[in-house]
Amino acid sequence: MITCPSLVYQSFTHIDGELTCDGVSVAAIVTRVGTPVYIYSAHAIRDAYRSIDEAFAACPHAIHYALKANSTLAIVRLLRAIGSRVDANSGGEIEVALRAGCEPRDIVFTGVGKTREELERAVALGVGVINAESAGELDRMAAIAAAQGRDVRAALRVNPDIDAGSHPNISTGLRINKFGVPLQDARAIYRERRSRPGLRLVGVHVHIGSQITTIDPLRKAARALAGLASELRADGVALEHVDVGGGLGIPYEGRPMIGASEYADAVIPELRPLGLPVLLEPGRAIVGRAGALVTRVVDRKRSPEGRQFAVLDAGMAELIRPALYGSYHRIVPVRPRQGPEGPWDIVGPICESSDVFARERVLPPLDVDDLVAVLDAGAYGAVMASNYNRHLLPAEVLVDAGHWSVIRRRQTLDEMLALES
Ligand code: LLP
Repeated sequence: MITCPSLVYQSFTHIDGELTCDGVSVAAIVTRVGTPVYIYSAHAIRDAYRSIDEAFAACPHAIHYALKANSTLAIVRLLRAIGSRVDANSGGEIEVALRAGCEPRDIVFTGVGKTREELERAVALGVGVINAESAGELDRMAAIAAAQGRDVRAALRVNPDIDAGSHPNISTGLRINKFGVPLQDARAIYRERRSRPGLRLVGVHVHIGSQITTIDPLRKAARALAGLASELRADGVALEHVDVGGGLGIPYEGRPMIGASEYADAVIPELRPLGLPVLLEPGRAIVGRAGALVTRVVDRKRSPEGRQFAVLDAGMAELIRPALYGSYHRIVPVRPRQGPEGPWDIVGPICESSDVFARERVLPPLDVDDLVAVLDAGAYGAVMASNYNRHLLPAEVLVDAGHWSVIRRRQTLDEMLALES
């Protein structure tokens, strides 16, 4: 069964002609906080987490929320409170996880290019597992563990040469990509290191990409991982889990697509025969739909050919996804005006022609000072924001049970300049 987005919980809906987040007026938040502002629904985050958790109820599993999607402390704490563990991709994300109340054992440390300092810290903390990206990294981890007189719990990330069918910039499972080690090399790498002092090879890991919208690549990756896990056990490697990474997409365009239950139904039959707990690293599927970037129209104009531009006070500095991946985000006026709909180019204020959120998007009339919301911006939005063109990092607000609070205030000019002499 394919999940219809309209059946999925919608946080951002118009009530009496005004955009609300779980019943709270978006315009009222903006009156206090200004624009641009990211607004998140706590309810939607919990709902998305639980739907993945329930989908995998048939097999032992642990959800390690991928912090890279959105690591604002209040969001990590919220997920922590309902039982989530984390996937950290850097030393910085490990520290965020700890400050949000995670135990080291709840952290999976992934990521291509971990520094020696990051590995030393992770080994000293005793994180749950470090997913190594190469044989060399496994060896460095083993040496660090030996030097510290500890054991390190490790897994190897394999690259199964499977096309995730996603945007090339976020597909990671092909031979040409920098990620992991070729699947066919993995068995020998484990075998050579299975009795290395300090190195406990407890898992296998795969992650073939992000915003995956078809089941087949996910099933194939799970099958490849399960095949490897069986071989390793035959070789006497004492595996404790298999980690299938993240990657489940969300319906940015509002069309029906696979959801958590279709994903679980496809991969559980591949993995269950192993009898090992399954680790999941979803990011986008948990927070993506829960957030919107609310921004104000600061100018409008018409080109000689008749193109209509609405220029916003937020652009690629606040939300880089459209510029970087050509990605689609739904855009809705906060208070839609009456009048004929027409095609609008919705653009940012940054000095780059790629600073465009949408081209020829059919919308109601827009005017200067109108508020618009860019939807499905909860994942890879705020975390990828920059000071480009000296924009201040935007504020972030969390709506929970009819109340809202600023979970990250807007950066000030002095804060932006504080590091400079
Ligand atoms: N695990 C690993 C090892 C990863 O590299 C990633 C994402 C995830 C889990 C979480 O994937 P998710 O469930 O969120 O698809 N900035 C891009 C997405 C980059 C994803 C990087 N890795 C975007 O805005 O689409």
